[in-house]
This record gives sequence, C-alpha cells and structure tokens, in this order.
Amino acid sequence: MKPAVPIATVGEGAMAACEVDGVRVLVCQVDGAYYALHNQCSHAHQALDGGTLKGHMLRCPLHGGRFDVRTGACLGPPASLPVATFPVEVERGKVHVDVSGLQPRQRPRFGPLN
Ligand code: FES
Repeated sequence: MKPAVPIATVGEGAMAACEVDGVRVLVCQVDGAYYALHNQCSHAHQALDGGTLKGHMLRCPLHGGRFDVRTGACLGPPASLPVATFPVEVERGKVHVDVSGLQPRQRPRFGPLN
C-alpha cells in the first residue's frame, strides 16, 4: 500500500485524481467508504476524474460510459470493458492504494467494429 491522497481532499461523493507508482488513480468516497480505480476509461483511455459521480456510478466525461466504482464493472455503453480497481486502506489521515495488481490493459473496444 502506498499513500495516495489525504482523506480531507476526498469528501463524501467526491473524487480525487493522483498517481501511485506511475499509475493514474482515481479515489472516490461514497457512503463513507473509499474506492480506488484506474483513472483511465476502458473505452478510449480518457481520464475519468472529469466525469460525474452519482452514488456508486461514475460517468466518463468523454462519451458517457458508466462504471461501478466498487467493482469497476461497466454499467453502460459505449464502454464495454471494466476499469481496474485497487485495494484501499485509510491510515494516518491518508487513503493508501495498492496498484501492484494492475494487469496490462486490454485493447480498447469500440463497439461492433471489433
Ligand atoms: S472514453 Fe470513456 S466512454 Fe469513451
């Protein structure tokens, strides 16, 4: 686990982008729980931190693909693949994230053209 962001920067229903070991990470807080995702949409690599968070659903700012911040599961098109999520711990006022399990990214998919 590596320190990612101070908890004070991620209020309830908010998101904070950061980098951990060279990996772009998005930390969110929903219902008092913290979640960390790869800050890269599975559709066309757009950073997700400019998107909107409604409950546990994160909407990509570029084309509106939707993801569950708890699991990274894709909830809506045009994205069809999940976003990686990372283990999170809160320690000494900071959200810590473990990005060691990140797998090489799958090739982006653009719907029926694949
Ligand atoms: S880049 Fe996110 S939905 Fe297209």
